[in-house]
Amino acid sequence: MIKKTTVDLGNRSYEILIGENILDDAGSHIRGLLNRARTLIVTDENVAQHQLFRLEASLAAEKISFETIILPAGERTKSIGHLETLLEAMLKTNLERDDMIIALGGGVIGDLVGFAASIYLRGIGFIQVPTTLLAQVDSSVGGKTGVNSPQGKNLIGSFHQPRLVIIDITTLETLDPRHIVSGYAEIVKYGLINDPKFFEWLEKNGSNLISGSKETRLNLRSEAILKSCEAKSAIVAKDEKETGARALLNLGHTFGHALEAENGYDEGLLHGEAVAMGIILAFQLSERMAICPPGDLHRVQNHFEQTSVPLLSSFSFTLERLLQHMTKDKKMADGKLTFVIASGIGKSYLSRDVDMKDVKAVLELGLKG
Ligand code: GLY
Repeated sequence: MIKKTTVDLGNRSYEILIGENILDDAGSHIRGLLNRARTLIVTDENVAQHQLFRLEASLAAEKISFETIILPAGERTKSIGHLETLLEAMLKTNLERDDMIIALGGGVIGDLVGFAASIYLRGIGFIQVPTTLLAQVDSSVGGKTGVNSPQGKNLIGSFHQPRLVIIDITTLETLDPRHIVSGYAEIVKYGLINDPKFFEWLEKNGSNLISGSKETRLNLRSEAILKSCEAKSAIVAKDEKETGARALLNLGHTFGHALEAENGYDEGLLHGEAVAMGIILAFQLSERMAICPPGDLHRVQNHFEQTSVPLLSSFSFTLERLLQHMTKDKKMADGKLTFVIASGIGKSYLSRDVDMKDVKAVLELGLKG
């Protein structure tokens, strides 16, 4: 059964389709959106091994001709260099203004392809087929696209909404457990922002969602992915360009980005792991500011501990370096950092009135362990 939700953006609205083995029918969902029966698939070497043949077969079944470009796997592919390679491939393929391209992969491929689509011939359509949990619940929805630069992550990019998101939960079966836990942090985030009932549901079902028996985990994942996509769609529909409410989706990210930057953006600390650690720090900060009850902080900490999120004290980071990274955050405005803090589970809000002394104190405690 296919679950559906819509990102409501007027004449740029699009559907998110979620299902088991839906990748094998992707062509039939895509066909009606194409102006002519041709497209370009962009993927990476890992996803090409496991999933590409399924998408290609589904396009062939619909008589959609396609070319495929396979890029190296990993964060380094989200670069100006690979953007150029991709744009040249698009030009060689003679893609026209009314054509669309397909991003098959995780957040790196989705962000890169979305950005290329936004600038090729001043903008063409693209379809997201996310294959990691993190991309399925966050990066494939909402139209943030871009590449990294030596100065930092996602500093060059655009808002460009996809025309369709196709989420096949069976693609998660080939992911290693750390990547599942990393994506799971972004799911927990939606409960903590504004949905305490969803957080309760995750407290009950989270461990089975991560590593339960096949039937159980597929059912729980599809439910949680739908819930996450609905939550994100509602926020994006209200504030597409992040002038307000969308910034709530950055819960844990001001801390998390600093941790990732200090770790050099390598596989030693995955984005979602950094976000989970950042969410704990955001709740510790809120508790220290006497805004969040200690009981809520403990529930958040316990929940992440059960998913084996790494501890801040297990990294040899220094307070000074982390603070330096935080003050380079692209969301800094007028010399002040915006934090997402919480007056409890499901009660997050934006604050520019956080005393850096409290930030230092929670980081110091976390680093000591
Ligand atoms: N990942 C946060 C956002 O899309 O706004």
